[in-house]
Amino acid sequence: MNDPNGMVYYEGEYHLFYQYYPDSTVWGPMHWGHAISEDLVHWEHLPIALFPDEHGLIFSGSAVVDWDNTTGFGVEGNPPLVAIFSYHDMEGERSGRDDYQTQGIAYSNDKGRSWTKYEGNPVIGNPGVRDFRDPKVIWHKDSKQWIMAVAALDHLKFYGSPNLKDWTYLSEFGKELGSHDGVWECPDLFPMKSDNGKEYWVLIENMNPGNPNGGSGTQYFIGQFDGVQFTVDEQFMKLLAHEDAIVPEGVVFESFENGYENWTIEGDAFGESTANGSLGSQMEVSGFTGKRLANSFVGGDQATGKIKSKPFTVSNKAINFLIGGGNHRGRTYISLLIDGNVVRQTEGKNSEQLLWTGWDVTAYIGQEAQIEIVDQYEGSWGHILIDEITFADQVASAARSGSVWLDAGRDNYAGVTWSDVPESDGRRIFLGWLSNWSYAQVVPTEKWRSAMTIPWSLSINHVDGIPRLVGEPIKELERLAADEWKIVEDIAKVPESGIYEIKGTSAQLDGFSISLSNSVDEQVVFSYKDGNFSFDRSKSGDTSFSPDFAGIPTTERISKNDVVSMHAYIDHSSIEIFLDNGQNVFTELFFPSSLYTEIEIKGLSELKIRELNNIWRQ
Ligand code: FRU
Repeated sequence: MNDPNGMVYYEGEYHLFYQYYPDSTVWGPMHWGHAISEDLVHWEHLPIALFPDEHGLIFSGSAVVDWDNTTGFGVEGNPPLVAIFSYHDMEGERSGRDDYQTQGIAYSNDKGRSWTKYEGNPVIGNPGVRDFRDPKVIWHKDSKQWIMAVAALDHLKFYGSPNLKDWTYLSEFGKELGSHDGVWECPDLFPMKSDNGKEYWVLIENMNPGNPNGGSGTQYFIGQFDGVQFTVDEQFMKLLAHEDAIVPEGVVFESFENGYENWTIEGDAFGESTANGSLGSQMEVSGFTGKRLANSFVGGDQATGKIKSKPFTVSNKAINFLIGGGNHRGRTYISLLIDGNVVRQTEGKNSEQLLWTGWDVTAYIGQEAQIEIVDQYEGSWGHILIDEITFADQVASAARSGSVWLDAGRDNYAGVTWSDVPESDGRRIFLGWLSNWSYAQVVPTEKWRSAMTIPWSLSINHVDGIPRLVGEPIKELERLAADEWKIVEDIAKVPESGIYEIKGTSAQLDGFSISLSNSVDEQVVFSYKDGNFSFDRSKSGDTSFSPDFAGIPTTERISKNDVVSMHAYIDHSSIEIFLDNGQNVFTELFFPSSLYTEIEIKGLSELKIRELNNIWRQ
């Protein structure tokens, strides 16, 4: 499974649909799986709700209660549930067309138990953009119409409709704002009152890749929506400050070709990695000729060898990389990193000698680019050839916008919020997919691919006059408490079940850390230093399945309070940490060879721990 879909509340039930391929643990033809809950904590699985049809697979989307029966789908005075989703036509994609993603709808008159697709599907055809998906629909009270926010490659489009069937294009947002280091997906749009009483609109936009901490991530914008257009709030805009990539003369890249001294080598205990051979010589792999710049080799079983170019700073222009390599056995990855993040990656497995690719990447002045080859498993070797690195002539006006991220961890993606939560409840409840496209399909699990985050309750808080979106665990999670809170002194055993909650505060700031570990010295460490939080899972257990897994996400602390507050939920393979009442959040996976049994704290005045019940066994 992947993205949460169609989250809607109706008649005492929270519905959670999700991207689901029933026949495998890797991504495949998508259906909507279905689960329901009365309390957002305990869930019941229901049969698959939506199956692929003649228009395509069922990609992500949303669901609403059509209270006034604007669709006419309702019967006997009961409002229908309407799901609005993307169709992905595989045949269209295979045949090279660009118009294979469209939007469709389906309805249910029996509380989501059975669904009928609308015979007039698709309700929105493709406007000429390959990535056109993940519609989020809301009822906009002021303009008395349905509004759809839908992702379109590098921006969002808004459409309006009186009846969920006939849609009119309204506006677009985001081509020049936020991060564009990946494809825009899964938007959300909702109004929200802030801590100072001011009403805002929040726009959530998921993007893959481009998370500053690696892989897929969720950015957001705060502003106003007038029924047609979304405008970013002036204060919030300060967080999106532009940098212009101005182009002075002079070229940087020559030094890269010189050979050994530009590469660093890391082999693990069983492996070796070399940057040898005749660097700079001409070579051919799979019909592609290039200059050999590095070579990597690993000898041992389960070994990993890594070579990395020294970073080079982009001093003037946008760069296009035409880069590739060969792979003999095992697995070889070649990655291009910009400012430490993998922005492009190609993989070769077991003698597929095929890593050729042209990477057209825009880097900006002052950014650091780096190339990395990772070889894994016995007798694996790979080499990297660079045919050309060209500098685009002109990027004088290319602007780079800042971006604001909802979760600093790597494992919270495609998150959106529940529709139709009663006004008397007043909450905006969010939930994401607890994984990351960088490695979701290769995590070392047999059955669990994968899970959702715990639900969050969102709010807007001002910090230095700037509105920020914050998320806290929903109060219903209290129901899982299995025990009283216990105080931890320095080092303690964690509950044997491996499912628990911790809370604490730290007035010491620098030097504050929490680590979880097991008897074979596998561990994860969460810490604060010099104004930044970071989460280190490099020694967490199995990290070999992807070179992107082990990195250390770091983020600036947002709160200015003297005391840091921390609240985290820990399960066998995940931690969800809320800092300063959700101003910073880290959601992270890990795969230790046995459960972490110990917790060690430093710099915390008081840490409390409480065992939780398993949601399936209560
Ligand atoms: C995001 C996403 C969506 C798409 C779905 C396909 O994770 O790529 O954009 O609708 O997953 O499963």
